[in-house]
This record gives sequence, structure tokens and C-alpha cells, in this order.
Amino acid sequence: MSIESRSAVGEELDGELASLLEVERFEAPAKFREHALLSDPGVYDHAAADPVGWWEAQAQELEWFQKWTTVLDDSDPPFYKWFTGGTLNVSYNCLDRHVIAGRGDRVAFHWRGEEGEERDLTYAELLSEVERFASALKELGVSAGDVVGIYLPMIPEVVVAMLACARIGAPHNVVFGGFSAEAVRERMEFSEAKVLITVDGAARKGKTAAVKDRVDEVMGDLASLERIVVVKSKGTACQMQEGRDVYYEDILAAADPVCPAEPLDAEHPLYILYTSGSTAKPKGILHTTGGYLTGVAATHRYVFDLKPDSDVYWCAADVGWVTGHSYIVYGPLCNGATSVMWEGAPDYPSKDIWWEIVERYGVTILYCAPTAIRACIKWGAQWPNKHDLSSLRLLGSVGEPINPKAWLWYHKVIGAERCPIVDTWWQTETGAIMISPLPGITATKPGSATQPFPGVFAEVRDESTGEPIEEGQGLLVLTHPWPSMLRTLYKEEERFIETYFKRFGTETYLVGDAARRDRDGYIWVIGRIDDVVNVSGHRLSTAEVESAIVAHTDVAEAAVIGQHDEDSGQAIVAFVTLQGELQGDDSTVEGIRETVAERIGKFARPKRIIWTEDLPKTRSGKIMRRLLRDIADGRALGDVTTLRDPAVMQQLEAQVKELSAREE
Ligand code: WT7
Repeated sequence: MSIESRSAVGEELDGELASLLEVERFEAPAKFREHALLSDPGVYDHAAADPVGWWEAQAQELEWFQKWTTVLDDSDPPFYKWFTGGTLNVSYNCLDRHVIAGRGDRVAFHWRGEEGEERDLTYAELLSEVERFASALKELGVSAGDVVGIYLPMIPEVVVAMLACARIGAPHNVVFGGFSAEAVRERMEFSEAKVLITVDGAARKGKTAAVKDRVDEVMGDLASLERIVVVKSKGTACQMQEGRDVYYEDILAAADPVCPAEPLDAEHPLYILYTSGSTAKPKGILHTTGGYLTGVAATHRYVFDLKPDSDVYWCAADVGWVTGHSYIVYGPLCNGATSVMWEGAPDYPSKDIWWEIVERYGVTILYCAPTAIRACIKWGAQWPNKHDLSSLRLLGSVGEPINPKAWLWYHKVIGAERCPIVDTWWQTETGAIMISPLPGITATKPGSATQPFPGVFAEVRDESTGEPIEEGQGLLVLTHPWPSMLRTLYKEEERFIETYFKRFGTETYLVGDAARRDRDGYIWVIGRIDDVVNVSGHRLSTAEVESAIVAHTDVAEAAVIGQHDEDSGQAIVAFVTLQGELQGDDSTVEGIRETVAERIGKFARPKRIIWTEDLPKTRSGKIMRRLLRDIADGRALGDVTTLRDPAVMQQLEAQVKELSAREE
């Protein structure tokens, strides 16, 4: 099938379904609504009438060493402060509090390894390990304000490391395990990390990937980095540099078992998380303590209708993304939830591993990405059908728009039409879920994230006039500050203002997504308006991938676009011009893909590479990506008269046709 017909079929089917479904609404079953934590729609009006009071009530649910004097300090927008004067500790809220209240024996995580290994960690056990590791970090010279890098796979130690940092006020900078060592190095450099916590090796579908050795190859000359802590996870042999490297297990054994949680200012930085923006340089999103925890705890409780005494909750994301930070670690632990943590991929050891896990641990709430659901659809219903999934009562979706076809499959095959689906829209920047149904209140429409969470205010603005749109498409904005919002971009204050608060002023947060508001006021998020591509829920900037591609010695120039893709939502397509008279062949393609894997990570490799002698540019030399997107999607070309050399487009069209013919 050609590129154009392939994407068209997926879109058409969903398009037809979407128009059918836009009028149909799905109500939660009466039994669900009856027992839901929130079932009175009045909560929306109540929060809208007094958002600051509503958030203050949510903050009351946390344990504070000292209460705040001001809920919201909005005297210097866009630099908002929440709960000023208050002190608290995130790790105390996630651990000590539950142990003190007699819930120490409750399982915090049912951890499951790739080869079927199992480890249950109770709240008391987690606290004890966190206290020891926090002591050990202090011994290594880490104190409040020092940045600690974390590059770990989905093993319990990653949670311990994050909470130990939070305990002593050392902001962590977690890098997703799928990023390459080069990408880790860059993030350590930007954040001037003092310590990096990593692992000997990581499980990858039955194989072990050497992690520490790869880290060593690139990290050597980083001036700020004083120590590397290595978790012995897979027993992979690795080089340890005298005076710099220590084993996690060794320092843990020697550490003081007592390490009281530090009372920290509500605005003390909790973490930095790098995410992609419009330029090649990733943005360091900074989150702080009191507001962030208030936001993630409240949304986790109400969006997932969490009953901590009986629920088994599973967020099947990776802890290295914001979803993992907010909804594997901080939200669930703060709420005293019992969670599942799965080390591996959804198709290893076999394609029913997710459903085996649901059955085995009696998972009641499942939270995952549409891309995973689409993979399951492709593998077939026989895999989930092999298992008893009757424990499930609520399903969640996150990371990209969920197409109606995937929504319906999730609803029918996984949820047996019994489980409400919460399609949650948010971002690394927002810290917590912003737009989502409340499962006991909101009637859902497949593909719509529905309504802002109580206390959150969203609008769709007209692109040209900037006026709010009642019904129709435009730019999504958030019009009031919220507690878990990013506070700045780490060490890039100007960029923070420029990116989010320039277009509509310092009191209106520009999201970077296009959205549609339908006649019932439901919000349908469409996708990014900037040069950010969403591949399987992984956020990538086209500039970042381009700069990785041009690092290949044969490449002269590259332009990257996101193309609609049935499996991954969007796929990376690269238009590449080679140096001089070089001709691209299969081995050049592999070489380029390899360079991208080394610079960023395997998940960023282009799916398709299209050779071109030149790129479509305006007379001022700007690459016209719109035309590249038209060509890749097989659309009729728009206006080409502003091009420096319109002939480029004919040559490109021919290239794309040839490539499509070869792919058939
Ligand atoms: C971007 C944020 C939210 C945690 C994971 C991704 C897209 C996210 C949805 C959704 C439509 C969504 C947006 C957003 N997105 N959730 N439910 N429906 N689009 O975090 O990497 O910061 O990416 O993901 O485009 O801006 P992120």
C-alpha cells in the first residue's frame, strides 16, 4: 500500500466513526456512579466560583510541616507561586505518613521483572530503603539544591532514587531509559548534575543491554559530575572508576538507616525533566514541591476515582516520562495506592503479558497510551481474551489523541463495556492532568478529553483574532494559573516567557496544541502547532532529529516532518540531501538511523528517508515544511510560487512515488 492510501484508510475509518460518535455519549454504569468519589456535577461550579479556595482544599489533604500564609502569589506573572510560607516534604507525604498511620504493610508496588521475577515492596520497606539511600546521597556530598541525574530502567530502585532525592531536597533529573547515553550526557551537562544514578545493565526483551559501559564512553569529561552510583541489577560486569563510581548496594549497606525528611519550602524545586521544544535544545521543565504534589494527588484521586484500600492501579508508562513521575510515583504514593510496576515491553515474553499481569495482580485501574492499544488491536483480541480481566473497573488513556476505533476497542475488548474511559490531556509542563472526564460525572465521547479538571480553565482561541471560540477550531490555552504548573525552564527564563506567555500575555498559558470545541463545549485536542512530533506518545522536536541526522558524515542537509501513522500516531520522515555527488543506498539509510539512535535514542529513528537534491526553500532560505508534509501525505501541493526553485518539488514528488512503489 502506498504512503498516501495507508494513512488515508486509517483516517477515513476513524473520520466516519468520529462523526457518528460525536453525537453519542457514553455514561458510566449506574453502579460506578453510585460509588464514585465525585458524582455531583456541582463540583465544577463550586471550583469555578473559587478556584484558589478549591486548590487550597486539595492542599489540605497533604501533610504540611508548616501551613502556607498565601495560597497563590500572582504578583509577578508568569512567575506564579503557590502555598508560599508553607513547608513540606514530598517523600514524607508519599511514605512516612502512611507508615505512621499504620499502613506500612500495604504493598506500594507489585514489581514484575521481564523473566517473571516478582518483588512486592510495602510502604514500610520502601521508606526504609529511601531513608538509607537518602543518607548515602548525603554521604556522597549531595545537599539540598544539588541536581541528581537518574538514568534507570523500570526497576524499584528508580522509585527509591527519586524519593531519596525528594527527601533531602536534591532536584532530580530523570532521563528515560530509551534515550542514548549521548542524550543523557547532554541533559547532565545542561542541568550541571553532581551525581548520576544508573545501572549495570537493563533488560530488553530477553537480552541485557550494557548501560554503565555506554555511559562511561560519553560521561568522562563532564566537569560537574562528581559521582556515579551504579545499581547492580543484571549482574553485568562493568568498569568502576576509582574515586568516582560506587555501587548502590554497597553505599546502601553502609548508610545510616535514619534520615528524617527535610522540611522544604513549598516552592523548593522537586525536579527538572527535559522535554522537546521547537529547537534542537531540549527544555528543562522545572517543577516545585507543594503545588506539584497538590496537583498530582488531587487529579490522581479524582480522575482515577481511587479507592486506596481496594484498588490495584497500573500506569503502564515509563517512569522516565512525566506520566511516570506524576502517575507512577508521586500521585499514587501520595494517595497510598497499591500499584503494579512492569519492567518490560508489552510483547515480551509474549503478547498477552499485560493481560496476564492484570489477571495476576487483580488490576482495577489501567492507564496507558493509545499507541499501545493500537498495537494490541493489531495483535488481535485473542491475547486479552485468554485472561480474566473482570477486576478492571476504570481505563485511562494518555499521550496523544485516542482515535475512535482504538477507543471503542479499549471499551469493548478490554473494558467489556463496563469500565469508563478517562482520556486525559496534559503535558510535561502542566505537571498534572488538565483536561479529562471525571468518571462518575462526565458522559464521554470517544476521542474527546472532554472538560477541564475542576479548578482548571481552558479555552480555544482564534488563531488570527485571539478571541475565545465557542464552537470550532483554534489554539488551546489555559487561562488561570494552577498549582502543578511549570515554574520556569531551567536556566532559560527568557525562553520560558517566549514559549508560553508571549502570544497571549503573561496570564495566559499557550499550550502548543490545536483543539476544537464542539457544540456541547467538549474539547477535542488535535495535535501540536509547533515543530514537535508525537511518536508513540514520545515527544520529539523535528530540529532535534535534524541535527542528529546532519551529524552523519555523508549528510549535507536534512528536514524532518511528522507524518500520520496508523501505529505510532505520527512517524518521523526525513528528507535528506547528501554531500556532493554521493548517492544514498540502503547502507546510508542504516547509517543515518544508527546516528540518530546514538545521538537521541532508537525511538527517534526516522521511519522513512527520502533522498532529495535540494529542499523546498523560500527565497530567504527557510525550509517549507508544509510542502514536505503535503508531499509525504500525498496531498495536492499548495502554493509553490514563493519557492526559490519550484522545480525541487517535482523531483521530490517523483522520489516519493518511487519510494512508495518500492514499499508496496
Ligand atoms: C503533548 C504533551 C501527558 C503526558 C504524556 C505526554 C499530547 C497528551 C493527550 C491526549 C491528545 C495529548 C499533546 C500534548 N497529548 N495527552 N489525551 N489527547 N493529545 O507528555 O511529552 O509533555 O507531551 O502530548 O500534544 O501537548 P508530553
